[in-house]
Amino acid sequence: MATAPAQRASAVPNDLEAFWIPFTPNRAFKAAPRLIARAKDMHYYTPEGRAVLDGTAGMWCTNAGHNRDPIMAAIRAEAAALDYAPAFQFAHPKAFELASRVAALAPGELDHVFFCNSGSEAVDTALKIALAYHHVRGEAARTRLIGRERGYHGVGFGGISVGGMVNNRKLFGTMLAGVDHLPATYSREHQAFSKGEPDWGAHLADELERIVTLHDASTIAAVIVEPMSGSTGVLPPPKGYLSRLRAICDKHGILLIFDEVITGFGRLGHAFAAERYGVNPDMITFAKGITSGSVPMGGVIVRKGIYDAFMRGPMHVAELFHGYTYSAHPLACAAGLATLDLYREENLFERAHKLEPVWAEAAMSLKGLPNVLDIRCVGLTAGIDLASRPGEVGKRAYEAMDKAFHELDLVVRAAGETLVLTPPLIVSEREIEEMFAKVARVIKAVA
Ligand SMILES: Cc1ncc(COP(=O)(O)O)c(C=O)c1O
Repeated sequence: MATAPAQRASAVPNDLEAFWIPFTPNRAFKAAPRLIARAKDMHYYTPEGRAVLDGTAGMWCTNAGHNRDPIMAAIRAEAAALDYAPAFQFAHPKAFELASRVAALAPGELDHVFFCNSGSEAVDTALKIALAYHHVRGEAARTRLIGRERGYHGVGFGGISVGGMVNNRKLFGTMLAGVDHLPATYSREHQAFSKGEPDWGAHLADELERIVTLHDASTIAAVIVEPMSGSTGVLPPPKGYLSRLRAICDKHGILLIFDEVITGFGRLGHAFAAERYGVNPDMITFAKGITSGSVPMGGVIVRKGIYDAFMRGPMHVAELFHGYTYSAHPLACAAGLATLDLYREENLFERAHKLEPVWAEAAMSLKGLPNVLDIRCVGLTAGIDLASRPGEVGKRAYEAMDKAFHELDLVVRAAGETLVLTPPLIVSEREIEEMFAKVARVIKAVA
C-alpha cells in the first residue's frame, strides 16, 4: 500500500524528544545530534549526505562492512518467503543450517547452538544452562556464578550480576544472589603500551582458587569472562591467563563460559578468541558479528556433554524451559548464513589476522600525544586511555568522540575516558592510516 506523502518518515526528524536513547547522555545528544541515515561498506552517511568513516563497526558488529549486497539480498529473499515461524514446537530449515554452520566454526566439542536475539540474552541463557546443567546431573548445590571486575555481559539481571562495571550495576538493587568476581586483569603500572596480550597478569587467574576455597567448589556452577574485555576499554588477556582459568575450572568441575559477543566472528583474527588462545570453554556466547549487525541475533554454543545431559526424561516434555519468541528468527538466520558465506569467501578472519601488525603499529603511533596514558590493542581493536580533566571523568573522551563525528567525519567510541576503535574487518591500510590520523587530530583538539 502506498504511503500518503504526509505520513512518510522524513530523513531528518523534527522532534527528538520521545526517543529515550540508550547508554547516551540524551540532553547533550539532542542539543547536537549525531544522526546516521545510510551506510555502505566502511562509511556512514548523515541525513545531509556527509560520508563518515566507521571506526567502530557499528558497535563491534558490522564485521563484514555495512549493507553488503549478499546479506541484504538474503534478508529480502527470506522476508518474501517466510516472515516468521514459531520458535517453540516448530522450526524452519535455516535455523538448523545456521546452527550447523556455527557449530562447525566453533572449536572442540562445542557443537550445539541455542539461539536468542542479543548478547544480553545469550549471557542470561548461558548462565541458566549452567545452573540447570548441574541440576540435571544431581549437583543442584552448584548455584554460584563467578564473573570479573570490569567485565561487561550485557544488561539483563544475570549479565549485570556477573558483570563488573559499576555504573551498570549501582542503581539496580541486589541483582542475583551468590555471585562473586575475579579481579580485573588490567594494571597500567605493569602493562602500559603493550601490543597484544600483556606479559604481566596470568597469576590473577589464581584468584579463582581463593574464591573456590571461600565458597567450596561444590557450590560453584560457572565462571564467565570475556576473553578480551571490550566494552570496558579493550583489555586483552594476559599471556597464559585463560589457560590457567581453564585448568582451575577443570580441577573443580566448574563450567567455563567465554562471552564472545565481541570477540566472535573475526574480531581477533579467528572465528572465536577460543581458537586464538587455544583454550576451549564449555560454552561460548555470541551475537553482533553473526549477522554482521544486520538483524538482531545472539546465541550460545554448548559442549556436546552439556546438551546430552539434558536429553533425558519423557519424549513429550521440553528438556529446557527457556527460549524467546524470536529465537532463530527467519530473517536473522538468513542474514547469518549470508554473513558466514561472506566471511569465508572474503577470508575476513584471516584478513583481520594479517592486518593486526599494521593496526597495532598505527595505534601505537599515538603514544606521546597529549593526555594519552595508555594504548592497548589486539586483533582489530584499540583502546586509548586519556587523562581526565579534574572532576570531569569521561568528558575529554566524550568531546573527542563528538568532535570526531561532527568535524572530522569519523565514528570513534568513547568508553569512560577511553577512545575505542574496532573497524569492520574490510578496512584497508589507507583507511587505518586515515582513522588514526584523525584520532591524533582530535586528541590534540581536546588537549
Ligand atoms: C561481551 C559482551 N557481552 C554481552 C553484550 C551485550 O550484547 P547486547 O547489547 O546485544 O545485549 C555485549 C555488548 O557489547 C558484550 O560486549
